[in-house]
Amino acid sequence: MKAFNSYKQLNAELKNRKGSLGLVPTMGSLHQGHLSLIEKAIKKNSNVIVSIFVNPTQFNKQKDFHNYPNNLKSDLNQLMDFNNVLVYLPDTNELYPKGIFANEYNFGKLDKTMEGKSRTNHFNGVATIVEKLFNIFKPDLAYFGEKDFQQLIIIKSLVNQIGYKVKIISCPTIRENDGLAMSSRNQLLTKEERKKAILLYASLIEAKRLMNSSSPSEIENSITKKFTNIEGVELQYFKILTDHSLSETKEINDKEKYRAFMACDIGKVRLIDNIALE
Ligand code: PAF
Repeated sequence: MKAFNSYKQLNAELKNRKGSLGLVPTMGSLHQGHLSLIEKAIKKNSNVIVSIFVNPTQFNKQKDFHNYPNNLKSDLNQLMDFNNVLVYLPDTNELYPKGIFANEYNFGKLDKTMEGKSRTNHFNGVATIVEKLFNIFKPDLAYFGEKDFQQLIIIKSLVNQIGYKVKIISCPTIRENDGLAMSSRNQLLTKEERKKAILLYASLIEAKRLMNSSSPSEIENSITKKFTNIEGVELQYFKILTDHSLSETKEINDKEKYRAFMACDIGKVRLIDNIALE
């Protein structure tokens, strides 16, 4: 592992190396989910860049940005044994030299629902930073987790719109033993909140079970009802949408693929999760 604060220095190092380049963009506080992306990237590429940068433009609330966990020492320790990994650790000036603002994109209806609806400008911020990283490093492959499924679809749309050659590799969600999707935000939960957080996965499994006998709106209503009056838990949305266009649907059509998506505030921590409904 070799760490760089400047992309010019990192690119100078890459000039001496041959073979394909994989990029794993992260906001740090690395966990097994990130490591699975990095391991996948290492298997496929001669060189792998892991970027660690908490991107200010994708947070719609300053408080959320400032509370976002930062564990650089532990991150670097976890990356220590990966020989061919180059870690990119920029500061805000390096990536936003002209000021901290997001570009505006048109993702059609992809960012008008779920996270895009509840977090104004969130996906403009994500796309801005991902575009910057693609421009700086020109990776052959870039790795994103399915836990942030809407983000994954929007990044694929960004790549199509801009015509980048990068191939987007989607990686399955990694879960704790009780099913909670791994997320850097999980460490912000108290012990009590952590217990309640298993409700997310349980609800997704319940939706999967109901899929054969109920319509999407019946499933959404039944799950939503279960969240009324749970102290400290506030369901933000539970939706069944088509897998790739994120469209609402009244009836299940055998030719389409669907996913259940949800966001939930547990105390002050916002968690999201989703599952394929096959
Ligand atoms: O998924 C994340 O951690 C972030 O949204 C990303 C893709 C690294 C952009 O800041």
